[in-house]
Amino acid sequence: MSNNLVTVAYIAAIVLFILSLGGLSNQETAKRGNLYGIIGMALAIGATAFGAGVTNYGVLLAVIVPGVIIGALLASRVEMTEMPELVAVLHSFVGLAAVLVGIGNYLQAPTDMTPSLVGAEETIHMVEIYVGVFIGAVTFTGSVVAFGKLKAIISSKPLMLPARHLLNIGLLVGTVALGFVFMGAEGTSGLPALLGMCALAGLLGMHLVAAIGGADMPVVISMLNSYSGWAAAAAGFMLSNDLLIVTGALVGSSGAILSIIMCKAMNRSFLSVILGGFGQGASSQSAGSSAPGGTATSATVEDTVELLNEASSVIITPGYGMAVAQAQHAVADITKILRDRGVNVRFGIHPVAGRLPGHMNVLLAEANVPYDVVLEMDEINEDFSETDVVLVIGANDTVNPSALDDPASPIAGMPVLEVWNASNVIVMKRSLSVGYAGVDNPLFYKDNTQMLFGDAKANVSAILAEMQKTAKTPAMAGSR
Ligand code: TAP
Repeated sequence: MSNNLVTVAYIAAIVLFILSLGGLSNQETAKRGNLYGIIGMALAIGATAFGAGVTNYGVLLAVIVPGVIIGALLASRVEMTEMPELVAVLHSFVGLAAVLVGIGNYLQAPTDMTPSLVGAEETIHMVEIYVGVFIGAVTFTGSVVAFGKLKAIISSKPLMLPARHLLNIGLLVGTVALGFVFMGAEGTSGLPALLGMCALAGLLGMHLVAAIGGADMPVVISMLNSYSGWAAAAAGFMLSNDLLIVTGALVGSSGAILSIIMCKAMNRSFLSVILGGFGQGASSQSAGSSAPGGTATSATVEDTVELLNEASSVIITPGYGMAVAQAQHAVADITKILRDRGVNVRFGIHPVAGRLPGHMNVLLAEANVPYDVVLEMDEINEDFSETDVVLVIGANDTVNPSALDDPASPIAGMPVLEVWNASNVIVMKRSLSVGYAGVDNPLFYKDNTQMLFGDAKANVSAILAEMQKTAKTPAMAGSR
């Protein structure tokens, strides 16, 4: 394939990636966005594979074929709830790839395709390699630690070493010092400095992510997504591949924007998260607030159906437990029955409900819940006070009033769905135990809250069966 044709294909792929990002920003256009991304990536891989730079198709196939098989198997087997772990692993691959490309590039002897550079060009190339390997190593080890935390292989609690900021600064100073050694080295004699920096950067990535815990982890994942984009862009500079530079920059900036949006939604400082907990107040580091007092009232399926039969407005706030139980289809059926009766049913979605951005939206879309009744937290928070019944299905941290009331709570300051303002709250979960952030929830003990204990799918299905049996009296229907 001629170079011109490759360039045209690359430009088309870039446009498709931008359209893809645009499409993914809205659930109604997300499918189309995904399709654009797939076509763009197929075009990018095809143009690269058939470009002049690739001469050995045996090696290319030997790495692509197993990669495709492993990727397809992993993606088809992964549960929706395990998606963040998979994403963390994929980020680590991008980081590792940037490290290997950098080291390979440094050691590569000049060829016709990559002639030896001199003067400013050589300096720029050396800086590209050094920075690329640095970002790659931070991304790699940071993502591995994030994977360990999400998979509960290592504790999700933040690691608070006494001199942790000094340690970070020391690692950065060491990186810069080795940079001078690397830049001054002749030929490939700078390799020990490059590998030394790689070890320091790896330690930094591990330490930055280890210092973050609890409810801040989603932001870390999206931050690592951003880092992986910059690592890819750095690899693009090293390989002089424009497409990789642009794609990496798109991923890097969209990941950073998502992190900022999530930080705002959780009232967290963006800088504090990227600098490994820098400047966090005592509140966010405390082990947990005091256990709430009072007694929780339990409800039965029949009690819940009775409340729903009397309600004219219902808000459903789903959380991670709905995803675990796979209760979304039964929830969608209940929604349909209530809407057919004229009840105003809406969903309130917290930005970090579940375990990945948009987790609840994906599940509800899969169950064909109409988009126009699925509202963001900010769109619905003021309406709880005028709502008859709130069904909290497998949510916990995202409906915890201590985020607003208790300055000592580890989730203090995080905006939450203010479900307790409704007339009646039914919380469906299996026990009174804590959610992801490990914080007790005073909502369970409020006077207007009733706990419907058990698996969310079993309970929602039982409610559905009961509602299908219970015909609504014409007098009640007429009162709406
Ligand atoms: P969580 O606070 O994690 O609580 C989920 C609740 O679901 C648990 O307390 C659990 O209680 C219940 N549950 C589990 N399995 C269930 C089942 N089969 N049936 C019924 N209930 C079940 O959920 P949330 O409110 O969605 O909050 C999300 C949390 O995850 C936040 O802290 C957030 O920061 C964090 N996080 C979010 C993301 C993103 S981007 N969304 C990524 C990583 C972490 P029982 O054990 O008593 O049943």
